[in-house]
Amino acid sequence: MDITKTELIELLNKDLALEYSAAIQYIQHAAVMSGAQFGNIIKELKIHATEEIQHALTLADQIDFLEGVPTIDVGKIYTSHDNIEMLKQDLNGEDNAIKRYKERVEQAEELKEFALAQQLRNILAMEQEHAMDLKQALGK
Ligand SMILES: [Fe+2]
Ligand SMILES: [Fe+2]
Repeated sequence: MDITKTELIELLNKDLALEYSAAIQYIQHAAVMSGAQFGNIIKELKIHATEEIQHALTLADQIDFLEGVPTIDVGKIYTSHDNIEMLKQDLNGEDNAIKRYKERVEQAEELKEFALAQQLRNILAMEQEHAMDLKQALGK
């Protein structure tokens, strides 16, 4: 599985588009979700939103460093009228992000982009925390 720098930039741009959409999805979910028992997770969703923006900033800088052009495309955003369904949509996004960043760390290391790999590891750790918050709220 030889990866080229160009392919890695393309994949990082897909990750970036999904960070944008994750931030928007969290902002929207936190705003429309209601119910006293959801108070804590609503606060968490707002924190997640700002962390996804931080991930987007990091990825955009890293793509620029690799001499790529950071995308302005935004990934698909999911929402629902049901709180639990929204939390499931958010968890699905996090599970997907964890899978992608595990691959991305390996690919960055394959290209000896160790600083990038380190940044991706930090993002991966945060996505795992996001997934744990959501699992807890879903009683999983
Ligand atoms: Fe993220
Ligand atoms: Fe996340």
